[in-house]
Amino acid sequence: MATPDPMHFDALAELYERARPAYPDALWSRLRELGALRTGGRAVDLGAGTGQATGPLLRAGLEVTAVEPGERLAARLRERYPAATVQVARAEDAVLAPGSFELAVAATSIHWMKREVVLPKVHHALTAGGRFAVWRNAYGDTSVAVTPFRERIEAIVARRDALERPGPSELETDRWARELTARGHFAIELIEELRWSTDLDEQQVRGLFTTFSDWSPAEADEAAIAVRELGGLVTEHYVTPLIVLAKR
Ligand SMILES: C[S@@+](CC[C@H](N)C(=O)[O-])C[C@H]1O[C@@H](n2cnc3c(N)ncnc32)[C@H](O)[C@@H]1O
Repeated sequence: MATPDPMHFDALAELYERARPAYPDALWSRLRELGALRTGGRAVDLGAGTGQATGPLLRAGLEVTAVEPGERLAARLRERYPAATVQVARAEDAVLAPGSFELAVAATSIHWMKREVVLPKVHHALTAGGRFAVWRNAYGDTSVAVTPFRERIEAIVARRDALERPGPSELETDRWARELTARGHFAIELIEELRWSTDLDEQQVRGLFTTFSDWSPAEADEAAIAVRELGGLVTEHYVTPLIVLAKR
């Protein structure tokens, strides 16, 4: 197993952009329904990667500051989204003027950040009434019956040393919500687990699993071979837990 490393994504910038699925439309609908995607609004995207959130935020008519510590990822962001202001920095070190954003987002990135630093910082950078939306894609949905492909994935993971196996696969959305509100900067506005499915072929699985920071290239290759042996196309069930926090 590869050791999780926050700079893992930077080394794989182009693959990351190609292989990671977009966030579900339902997520953007929820944010729109809450009034968080107002045209002309200002958003900061923390840990922006290659812009999986930056792109939809810009298309919704917001001004976007994208904060990304990986230099190659940031270069891809600038190329893809010249309208965004890109800061090459960790969220902890980003320069964010007080009261300058109506919306902050952390898409599949909050777990890499020091929350004790980032939560007060985001609170300070938001306007009164501002929101912090935190979400991630969880690749696997334990509420759905285990598929033959998932059995193969579990077999690959089971061969790792016990210490290197991922912990419980629960989403822990409530634990995250408690952690994000514990210091009193934010109140919960919305918690929702969005469930969705997608079909992936051998190449897509090889690409996607290679981008996971805890999967080695050899393991990603095994996952791809499993797709071939299962007929060339697998349906994967995913969950996107979304937590929207309101500034107190
Ligand atoms: C799984 S990627 C998510 C990228 C993008 N937000 C998306 O939704 O696809 C995690 C991102 O967090 C970035 N990252 C890691 N540590 C960070 C930190 N301390 N502050 C901000 N971003 C960080 C990584 O460079 C990477 O781009």
